[in-house]
Amino acid sequence: MPDPTETIRGFEIHRGWLSPDAQLRLVDCCRKVIRRAPLVRPMTAWGKAMSVRMTSAGRVGWVIDKGRYRYADRHPETGAVWPPIPPEILAVWRGVSGWLDPPDCCLINWYEAGAKMGLHQDKDEGDFEPPVVSISLGDPARFRMGGVERGGKTESTILHSGDVVVMGGAARLAYHGIDRVMAEGLPNPVTGRGRLNLTLRVVSD
Ligand code: SIN
Ligand code: MN
Repeated sequence: MPDPTETIRGFEIHRGWLSPDAQLRLVDCCRKVIRRAPLVRPMTAWGKAMSVRMTSAGRVGWVIDKGRYRYADRHPETGAVWPPIPPEILAVWRGVSGWLDPPDCCLINWYEAGAKMGLHQDKDEGDFEPPVVSISLGDPARFRMGGVERGGKTESTILHSGDVVVMGGAARLAYHGIDRVMAEGLPNPVTGRGRLNLTLRVVSD
């Protein structure tokens, strides 16, 4: 597997993994997925709407269902099966994950100005051996990384459009989140405004 540009607390960061053209192609793929599987704003277990809007591609999609976090085989609003993960996105998985099986889910997070994601672990997949691969597109964002215990020390870095992060090994169950999206100033050349984050996950039943 290619060496990451930087490793912070086990999070392997491949800076500028995607060329500007590849970034635009991935945004186009996401638009097509979103047309079939519209973004939804999930309600947390505490009855508060998340600031991030989400949808998925793949065999299963990540949803909050009556306050429970789980993978579902249908979109919560349309009731339709999720669109397949576009081949361009699967190619990123093959390039960096070091994992033979393809991912079952590509969670698409859409952050507009002011959106953020609190520190959390990705722990609904049932199998924590495969890594989670994260692709950032559009506006930069401050990504925060901790350890496997809640409340421990954290560090942060800015993720830019085209950066890919592999969360595997020691970092697979580490806390992480998005403090803030830098959406001010001129529109970015990839999404115009806003940040897309794609996370690829292997999910066992
Ligand atoms: C996530 O943890 O689901 C998203 C992380 C990110 O937006 O970079
Ligand atoms: Mn996560």
